[in-house]
Amino acid sequence: MLKLEHLSWRTGDGRQILKDINLTVPDGKLLVITGPNGGGKTTLAKMIAGLLLPDSGRILLDGQDITSLDPTEKARLGISYAFQQPVRFKGLTVRQLLELAAGGRADYAELCDTLSRVGLCAREYVDREINATLSGGEIKRIEIASVISRHTKL
Ligand SMILES: Nc1ncnc2c1ncn2[C@@H]1O[C@H](COP(=O)(O)OP(=O)(O)O)[C@@H](O)[C@H]1O
Ligand SMILES: [Mg+2]
Repeated sequence: MLKLEHLSWRTGDGRQILKDINLTVPDGKLLVITGPNGGGKTTLAKMIAGLLLPDSGRILLDGQDITSLDPTEKARLGISYAFQQPVRFKGLTVRQLLELAAGGRADYAELCDTLSRVGLCAREYVDREINATLSGGEIKRIEIASVISRHTKL
């Protein structure tokens, strides 16, 4: 279970972006956060992933205070983050990226299972190189598929 308690954050020039955010996400639940551009959604996600430190408040994973752990430590505890503008692993094929994420070889059926969850199950995608010829939406879907491949808790 993920719990956010009284999270607040201001920009360097003093703009309050997050103010006293409290929420609980039980295991196995999907939480969708919606809001205007610049509303603070990515800021909140980055805090959970350890890419940004809140000014105040706590982040708890199964009761453990993980607020100030770095992204690597949080990854070890089972937190994955899909970037909005993925820049990693250009030049790998989709298959190579997903195998790297999963930590081992995967057969076509497994790869297709993951890719179908992001709407991309097709032979043309599995062996496609990740480069600028993919559309922005395709790249985002592949990024999400690589996160799913890690089978992390969050
Ligand atoms: N590191 C930063 N320094 C200054 N301002 C930032 C920083 N990160 C985010 N912001 C600002 O905080 C606000 C919220 O951004 P963000 O969380 O990315 O919004 P969104 O809800 O669209 O994902 C925006 O106005 C953005 O410019
Ligand atoms: Mg955003």
